[in-house]
Amino acid sequence: MRAVVTGAAGFIGSHLCQRLLSMGWEVVGVDCFRDYYSPEIKRKNLRTCLSHPSFSLIGEDLVASNFSFLKGGDYVFHLAAQPGVRKSWGKEFNYYLQDNILATQRLLEASLEKGISFFVFASSSSVYGNSPNFPLREDSRPLPFSPYGVTKLAAENLLRLYYENFSLPSVSLRFFTVFGPRQRPDMAFHRALKAILTGEEFTVYGDGSQIRDFTHVEDIVDGVIGAVEGARAGEVYNLGSGREVSLRDALSIMERVTGRPLKLKFVEAAKGDVRKTLADITRARKDFGYRPRKTLEEGIEQEWYWIKSLYSG
Ligand SMILES: NC(=O)c1ccc[n+]([C@@H]2O[C@H](COP(=O)([O-])OP(=O)(O)OC[C@H]3O[C@@H](n4cnc5c(N)ncnc54)[C@H](O)[C@@H]3O)[C@@H](O)[C@H]2O)c1
Repeated sequence: MRAVVTGAAGFIGSHLCQRLLSMGWEVVGVDCFRDYYSPEIKRKNLRTCLSHPSFSLIGEDLVASNFSFLKGGDYVFHLAAQPGVRKSWGKEFNYYLQDNILATQRLLEASLEKGISFFVFASSSSVYGNSPNFPLREDSRPLPFSPYGVTKLAAENLLRLYYENFSLPSVSLRFFTVFGPRQRPDMAFHRALKAILTGEEFTVYGDGSQIRDFTHVEDIVDGVIGAVEGARAGEVYNLGSGREVSLRDALSIMERVTGRPLKLKFVEAAKGDVRKTLADITRARKDFGYRPRKTLEEGIEQEWYWIKSLYSG
């Protein structure tokens, strides 16, 4: 089977490519190495894949591509995006429009033209916003609280209408705060573990009582693969851990796992950050047997080893 993975050099995309290769797929990775964070880190993310004979890398921007890499029968895993809630305000919004909405629309058009087998989209818990009801269910009304969330919801809606109008088979998977090795440098666990390593202060936005459903990247990859096998086309699924943890508690686990203290600096809560996320994962469990397995402790330990190798030479 042939997969096209967009955002292949990123945090989650690189793990997905590795998994597909280990399952015997031919994988075409597409990434334009945006400098939202160091392209050098992205190249490192792809090191294992690049040495695999069934992997090829296309360094194209989906906003400008002619999609000649796409073939009939392909499975498309669309993970390329401009991520991050905090940066999505102001002038930066243009990047979110381009990479999250326009790129998705162009890829859907090309997928329709080529006759792909299935289209999987990496959506986000950010589409829910500050919901009053927990756990978050897919049938609750999405009310994004950040411009980023708005663009992910717009892309989900594009998938839905290409399915309803043209029967392009697709599914949107709402990832909940993903962690583990290769986590993006702007994300809290990466910043905190780096601060533990260097002895610098870690900036907490708000008082640290915000709650997140932290999900290990391997569990996310399990869910993505499971969705290809058993998800209903046209549907939306949560991929979370179903476990709620405050940022403060997660930071304490990091201190315990690393055996080192973390210095905290508190600043005002960031605009667009929600108070709480917690996924109801019943739908994914019923339809494709999704069962997250990784504990927070083991994932933090793995991410810690990776952070040390990344920053200690
Ligand atoms: N990390 C999380 O916790 C999380 C949570 C919810 C949803 N998501 C979604 O999962 C996906 C992957 O996230 P990530 O954390 O791995 O991000 P990432 O930034 O590490 O990876 C995204 C990759 O997409 C590439 N890209 C961006 N625009 C592109 C374009 N126009 N053409 C080609 N390549 C382009 C970037 O260069 C980058 O390497 C994103 O769609 C994100 O919105 C992530």
